[in-house]
Amino acid sequence: MLVLVNLKAYPCDPGEIAAAVKDVSEETAARIGVVPQTAQLESVAQTGVETWAQHVSPVAQGSHTGSLLAEAAMTAGAEGTLLNHSERRLRLAEIDDALSAAERAGLETCVCANNSDQIRAVAAMGPDSVAVEPPELIGGDVSVSTADPQIVEDAVVATASIDTDISVYCGAGVSTGEDVHAAGELGAEGVLLASGVAKADDPRVVLRDLVAGVWTGERPYTDPDENLSIGDIKPTRADSSTVSRSEELYRRYEAGVSGIEPQSGADKIRQLSRMNDLQSDNDPQDGLQTVIQRWLS
Ligand code: G3P
Repeated sequence: MLVLVNLKAYPCDPGEIAAAVKDVSEETAARIGVVPQTAQLESVAQTGVETWAQHVSPVAQGSHTGSLLAEAAMTAGAEGTLLNHSERRLRLAEIDDALSAAERAGLETCVCANNSDQIRAVAAMGPDSVAVEPPELIGGDVSVSTADPQIVEDAVVATASIDTDISVYCGAGVSTGEDVHAAGELGAEGVLLASGVAKADDPRVVLRDLVAGVWTGERPYTDPDENLSIGDIKPTRADSSTVSRSEELYRRYEAGVSGIEPQSGADKIRQLSRMNDLQSDNDPQDGLQTVIQRWLS
């Protein structure tokens, strides 16, 4: 299970947090990544912790002033990148281009989204992972796994309907081991969090508590007939004994909750996302919702 600590633009000391992350990852073998500001990618990466960019631009090398080139993030030491975070939203076609840029640079990708329709749309673009974060819970005291467990389960089902190889993370308000554990029980394979660590008096204490909740639960589903059509066990990169889907979620999937054929879905959504009227939308997320509605209709 991945714990990704997004430092956003908080007035914290990225070096101190990276050092704490390094210590706690070494003590516990937990997979913890740091997501610093662009200017601090290199210094954070040099500490040896897994380092992610907060965003990369949907561009290739060329005349793109002010962009963060995926290759530059990679050269600075980033191993992965967030895309379409609630605080750095993109149009769907831009997400597609940013994913291509990240792939070119060999960065692992996590595309954020606000709800399960958006999750399904961005999953169709083929990222390594998706993250569901309800914006209203970001920066708050109550974790998404407590305040809105349904949105996490729905994101797991929506993603599985596209591609079971895409990992699902969740975020917003996550700050304790209990929150992390609850996220794992809901089917998430990782959490994104920010304020719980970035604003902590002692990040080490919070990090130790967080990773104590890393979900290593028993396999929740044993298939008596051995005839499931999708993988019933999906190990995380960090822990091959960890299982990501519950029996109920599989049943919902098998019942055809989201029976969209993945490849045609991806092609259609790409086509829709590049239509002119959607490109000129002022609000990228309105455009995204419109694409999704047309895709689903
Ligand atoms: O990227 C993670 C973030 O949006 C969640 O923020 O402060 O609720 O942990 P926070």
